Amino acid sequence: MPNSAEPIIVAEAVGKRYGHFQVLDDCSFKVANGEVVVICGPSGSGKSTLVKCLNGLERFDRGRITVDGVRVGDPGVDLTRLRSRVGMVFQQFELFPHLTAEENIMLAQRRVLGRSVRDARERARALLDRVGLLAHAQKYPKALSGGQQQRVAIARGLAMDPAVMLFDEPTSALDPEMIGEVLNVMVDLARDGMTMVCVTHEMGFARHVGNKILFMDAGTIVETATPEDFFGHTRSERAQRFLKNILHPMGL
Ligand SMILES: Nc1ncnc2c1ncn2[C@@H]1O[C@H](COP(=O)(O)OP(=O)(O)OP(=O)(O)O)[C@@H](O)[C@H]1O
Ligand SMILES: [Mg+2]
Repeated sequence: MPNSAEPIIVAEAVGKRYGHFQVLDDCSFKVANGEVVVICGPSGSGKSTLVKCLNGLERFDRGRITVDGVRVGDPGVDLTRLRSRVGMVFQQFELFPHLTAEENIMLAQRRVLGRSVRDARERARALLDRVGLLAHAQKYPKALSGGQQQRVAIARGLAMDPAVMLFDEPTSALDPEMIGEVLNVMVDLARDGMTMVCVTHEMGFARHVGNKILFMDAGTIVETATPEDFFGHTRSERAQRFLKNILHPMGL
């Protein structure tokens, strides 16, 4: 097991190209145990690609990534083990439509961790309770609202007892009135000490819950700042423009 004083994630000079297009260039950052890191930046800047590199969902061609002591990208890396240590929540909730909420949360516990039906169900129900959905345990995804589905997806990630949770715009496909219920679950997780990397444009979350903000543009991490610095005196002109657009989209 890695020393808890060691960063859980270390990315060093990560680069990736699609043909001639440099999607990631010289990206370096660290995530400490219990830290909440928010990644923001314009569309197409490489945010999703970067987080997917962290759990081996995307390949990278340069640099190094270590997550929970595992060298991601090594030819012999055990991706199943890695992904059980790194939970991921996507914009589209991606639940299995033919399984109930409870069964969605049980599946990987059974298949990957080899837990008994009883243990997996007990854990699933405890997590459904934690995200406020115990009463909906037997419902299929299509009978749940977007916000409820996303909370089930978060519970599914947590069921693996991950060392870190990755979120890629978890609220951007939701109707406005459902954003709060998902953000509240994320705030609770952060307060409980979960290590989190969140791609989000929810600047309230970034400001009040984030410990560190990475601002990306054109495949590079242009700024790494505390929320105070990022919102107080953003250095790059590009980040200032981004913040202005996101906080005042109509220029008002
Ligand atoms: N398979 C692919 N082949 C070629 N280019 C790709 C591929 N996947 C992504 N890209 C390009 O890589 C760039 C970064 O994409 P990525 O999805 O990481 O951006 P993003 O910051 O997450 O954007 P958004 O905010 O819209 O989600 C984009 O310009 C995209 O068009
Ligand atoms: Mg994206």
